[in-house]
Amino acid sequence: MLREHIPDLSKCVEPDRVRREVYTDPQIFELEMQRIHERVWIYCGHESQIPKAGDYYTLQIGRQPMLMVRGADGKISVLYNRCPHRGNMMVGDRHGNAGEFFRCSYHAWTFRHDGKLRSIPMDSAYAGTRFGKDNPDCSMKRAARVENYRGFVFASLSSEGVSLKEFLGDAIVAFDDMCDRAPEGEVEVVPNCFRVIQHSNWKIFLENQLDALHPSVVHQSTGRAAHDIEKKLAKQSGSAPLSYHMLSAFATVTIDKWDNFQTLNYPGGHSVLTGYMGLRPQDPDTVAYDKIMIKAYGQKRFEEIVGVNIHHVIVYPGLSVQSPLQQLRAVRPLSVDRTLTEIWHFRLKGAPEAIYRRSLAYYNLVNSPSTLINADDLENFWKCHQGLAADAGDWVSFGRHFGRDIEKDGHVESGPNMGTSEAPMRGQMKAWAEYMRA
Ligand code: FES
Ligand SMILES: [Fe+2]
Repeated sequence: MLREHIPDLSKCVEPDRVRREVYTDPQIFELEMQRIHERVWIYCGHESQIPKAGDYYTLQIGRQPMLMVRGADGKISVLYNRCPHRGNMMVGDRHGNAGEFFRCSYHAWTFRHDGKLRSIPMDSAYAGTRFGKDNPDCSMKRAARVENYRGFVFASLSSEGVSLKEFLGDAIVAFDDMCDRAPEGEVEVVPNCFRVIQHSNWKIFLENQLDALHPSVVHQSTGRAAHDIEKKLAKQSGSAPLSYHMLSAFATVTIDKWDNFQTLNYPGGHSVLTGYMGLRPQDPDTVAYDKIMIKAYGQKRFEEIVGVNIHHVIVYPGLSVQSPLQQLRAVRPLSVDRTLTEIWHFRLKGAPEAIYRRSLAYYNLVNSPSTLINADDLENFWKCHQGLAADAGDWVSFGRHFGRDIEKDGHVESGPNMGTSEAPMRGQMKAWAEYMRA
């Protein structure tokens, strides 16, 4: 039982705190799906996941089973994964190739790659009825809007709303930073992704991503163990593989150092964490990569590209992007207490294999379900969600450095030496409240 009963949704969010039922109430979850996930631009996947005509990949947008598919003309469509006849899922596999058209496995209605009805067996049976090729209800339903930014495909299930570019706003830097680091200006996906189902509300994951306070607490034990081995190896052979640094940084970058970084918080709940973990040493692999980049872009542009000071970008409400390491996590809420994350990484086109191996090492060591880093986070997400059931307080606090944020040119910055500010969570919940009111 709640100690205070507040039926009004608008009263669930205050600038520095949020009612706990925002995370636990199944009715609020349904409303979130309607008003947020099934309206805004949601990441579907990368175009390189479906290189050939007929290739499809399934995904979930809000509560809707969807698929993205490439047509013979190269155009990508995003369709509801549903046959208009009796509702059968059009494809049951995660991904595959439909051939020249989709054919429903139940009664063999066929559809073009853009979803349009192609044929119904013995269709004279429908003569004089409401069904037939010209009735749009007999075609597969399409996502209202689809846009592609530098290979990253997004869809919105609402015909109304801002364009993808406008929606992304300053968070568009996530995709520019990732692609610009490729000598060919493009990335390609590495199939397949890791999938993790977290036993917690989707917002708990997003709030954690730019929570600069937690790494040196939650990941300290892993970081310390890696640091010990790193030191030992360096002593023995002069240097340790860079992958140790990816883990040891969780122990050596202490809370006061995280405070030196900064978050930039934009309208719509998007945020950027500046600061870089020092993963650009002058080792032979990096030097070889730099040479290729300078050849491709010239010295000046090269310096600009590698000088982009980003560690992590949140594209609210569905993406966490670590562009300098070509990683991306897509958030797919399943229910009020279940969240699927898809953990993808990408190759920089034209970059040496060793640079890809570096991205792969980070993927495996920091973001994969098998690393202790991820397990440490998952345990806390689950415990947060469980703890919220306690009748011991109605509010979740986002008060760290509240009142000291700096408002600047339409965005909010954490104050100097306040990188651990809870400003990103305040920004996310502000956007949440705006979407839920709309
Ligand atoms: S359900 Fe698809 S053809 Fe009948
Ligand atoms: Fe973490």
